[in-house]
Amino acid sequence: MENILVQNVGKHEGENVKLNGWVYNSRRSGKIGFLLFRDGTGIMQCIIVRNDVGDSVFDEFKKLTQETSISVQGEVVKNDRATGGFELLLSDFEIHHLIDGYPITPKDHGTEYLMNHRHLWIRSKRQHSILRIRHEIIKATRDFFDSNDFTLVDTPIFTSNACEGTTTLFETEYFGESAYLSQSGQLYGEANAMAFGRQYNFGPTFRAEKSKTRRHLTEFWMVEPEIAYCDLEGNIEWAEKLITFIINRVIENRKVELEVLERKVDDLKKFTGNFPHISYSEAVDMLQKGGFNFEWGGDFGSPEETYIAKQFEKPVVVHRFPTAIKAFYMKRDPENENVVLGMDILAPEGYGEIIGGAQREDNLDFLLERIKHEQLPQDEFEWYLDLRRYGSVPHAGFGMGIERVVAWICKLPHVRETIPYPRMIQTLRP
Ligand code: 4AD
Ligand code: MG
Repeated sequence: MENILVQNVGKHEGENVKLNGWVYNSRRSGKIGFLLFRDGTGIMQCIIVRNDVGDSVFDEFKKLTQETSISVQGEVVKNDRATGGFELLLSDFEIHHLIDGYPITPKDHGTEYLMNHRHLWIRSKRQHSILRIRHEIIKATRDFFDSNDFTLVDTPIFTSNACEGTTTLFETEYFGESAYLSQSGQLYGEANAMAFGRQYNFGPTFRAEKSKTRRHLTEFWMVEPEIAYCDLEGNIEWAEKLITFIINRVIENRKVELEVLERKVDDLKKFTGNFPHISYSEAVDMLQKGGFNFEWGGDFGSPEETYIAKQFEKPVVVHRFPTAIKAFYMKRDPENENVVLGMDILAPEGYGEIIGGAQREDNLDFLLERIKHEQLPQDEFEWYLDLRRYGSVPHAGFGMGIERVVAWICKLPHVRETIPYPRMIQTLRP
């Protein structure tokens, strides 16, 4: 007999099949038993009837406890009222590991307890759905770039320089010298773009974020396209297309999971297409009119981002930030040197920045000036400066934080649920 997966039962209507998995829940009502069976791809209802299987099998069924591992066997039958539209008429089952007292029960547990049991919590329906959507978002991201002629070029995690400022660097001893865990692969991505034209790098990035917020992890995954012969406007267009592509994919392939999370597909659909664009200066006007005591030159915090995003239905692109608050590598606007050609994309519903990017400074002298001004060690950037010495071209790119996107698409209150094993200031275990 063939072993199949819950997510494929629909293809086996009327057949006798076997599935391997765990007990999600089991109960009895007189001579009928109901089992919610999970196998990692979904949850399916199984029905067992005492008169069909006999007393000994039915008595064995009575022993089942939550998270006992079992294999089930039976006929796939259609039932429109069952989750997934099908259920299994149990003829037999085999217990692999009968357990007593699973630590996570359907009752309410506190967040701290659940976080300490993260290795088990990920079996729960909600957490499982979030992580399946995370996978879909990552897959969609890769498919988007792969189908648009980008090459995936990996960047290192041990580095000798800082990409995003020195305050959040994780330092580690590296055979007698200091190394830093990568905050962003961008600088290497720029070298890759000069070699491959369109490249993306995708990996874990690290920042010693010292404050507790619902948007910051110390280890998070970032996808970073970097594109040669591309300006700020072209960069924004790639970002808009990427987000639209991701949302459409999630809607298409993760209906069941969105339903578990009570995330409405119609709301997600509204977030696709061309986004509104506003300059930083326009955003500042907006804040001031909205009663914020905010002056031109400041950096937006979470309340400012939320307010700006609230003015629009779709994600909003904010561009041309003050030079002083942005990274050394951003190109100054040739029309106004007080601002750089950077852009952030702010997600609706209070999720804030999900993408940060820029057209890069391609002029060697301007770049040197910024490195000196920021008091960065020029030696460590010599290789990067070579990119402006040998065949420099206009180029741009951005970084999208996967966890921020997962939190937004799943409408989660905190980024800790967006990654299997979150790392935060006080969270290193499990
Ligand atoms: O805006 P950031 O700092 O930009 C960069 O690192 C650029 N070098 C990227 C590039 O242009 N190639 O970070 C990019 C994105 C943010 O918009 C956010 O989504 C995410 O990374 N991010 C975080 N996500 C979770 N926890 C944190 N501590 C994050 N810091 C940034
Ligand atoms: Mg940013």
